[in-house]
Amino acid sequence: MDPINLYDYEALAREKLTSMAHDYYASGAHDEITLRENHAAYDRIRLRYRVLRDISRRTTRATVLGHSLNMPVIVAPTAFQKLAHPDGEAATARAAGNAGTLMILSTLSTTSIEDVMAAATGPVWFQLYVYKDREATKALVQRAEAAGCSALVLTVDAQILGRRERDVRNRFQLPPGLSVMNLMPAGQEAFPQDAQGSGAAAYVISQFDQTLSWKDVTWLCGLTKLPVLLKGIVHPDDARLAVEHGAAGVFVSNHGGRQLDTAPATIEALPEIVAAVDGRIEVLVDGGIRRGTDVVKALAYGAQAVAVGRPVLWGLAAGGQRGVEHVLELLRAEVDLAMGLCGCASVGEIDEDILL
Ligand code: FNR
Ligand code: LAC
Repeated sequence: MDPINLYDYEALAREKLTSMAHDYYASGAHDEITLRENHAAYDRIRLRYRVLRDISRRTTRATVLGHSLNMPVIVAPTAFQKLAHPDGEAATARAAGNAGTLMILSTLSTTSIEDVMAAATGPVWFQLYVYKDREATKALVQRAEAAGCSALVLTVDAQILGRRERDVRNRFQLPPGLSVMNLMPAGQEAFPQDAQGSGAAAYVISQFDQTLSWKDVTWLCGLTKLPVLLKGIVHPDDARLAVEHGAAGVFVSNHGGRQLDTAPATIEALPEIVAAVDGRIEVLVDGGIRRGTDVVKALAYGAQAVAVGRPVLWGLAAGGQRGVEHVLELLRAEVDLAMGLCGCASVGEIDEDILL
């Protein structure tokens, strides 16, 4: 099959991956209601396109936190990419750079920050999980900074892991040879071997700091010169607190439906958050974005850009670096088409007026 859209890549990836890896990537929490809603909510929004606006010279270029990108689509942080392909995170970093966009590298990477940065051909942000071991956490921040990452993304919705029942049934574990490479120096790279259910959930329980609170946002902002974005916001009051605590941006995200099931679809949470932030910091959104029209809708509601998680993993599984490049280019081309058909020649021309 010659993949022509992101769903084709999903089907190809399913054939390539072990069922344990596929289930880990694909699954959501409990009944997977939020997982499905993330995309279904886009399908319910209608685009009230405009006509006769000279769309002959279009561009999908966008600026995100000062980075000039080819498209308003960036790569969301996803853990354990060597489960998809032996080239793992390094391939994703090269692909994102070649596609003219930026990658967010997960703390839970199967490649070290330094090796990813050595491979990268574009900007990389580092996604941070805060460990009970604050010295190990501080070391991650310093390494990300020293290696050349240009922002930190603090994930605030996963101090404990949502229950993904497929992982529980599979007793999800990393295969031999793979580990949380960034935590190797701290000696915290391996999953507990005696876990009854999901090894990932057991790892998170044993390592992540459940005391995390707003004062830690202040702590982190004081620890680094890099801009700090908060990922996992769905409540407007939390968005306001993010502004007050010095965040440079927020990600409206429910972790791809993997944490609290029945959390709202992110596109439904976005408008209130854009209103609460009121232009003071940048607002990004992720979850369920599979079509160019989804991207246009998110921008119309006021997002600066969107991020994609699983589609990148499907591209990586199906074809390594090239697969990720193709996924990103397919989506960019769809954004260009959707913009043109909406009568928008640039992302700046996309506004709420086109939403019905
Ligand atoms: C994630 N996500 C995630 N987020 C994060 O901050 N750190 C992480 O390590 C991970 N790991 C991770 C693994 C896998 C397999 C998935 C699917 C997701 C969440 C991710 O950044 C993003 O919020 C969602 O993936 C967005 O939804 P879509 O695009 O996958 O629908
Ligand atoms: C996830 C984590 C680890 O699996 O972020 O969603």
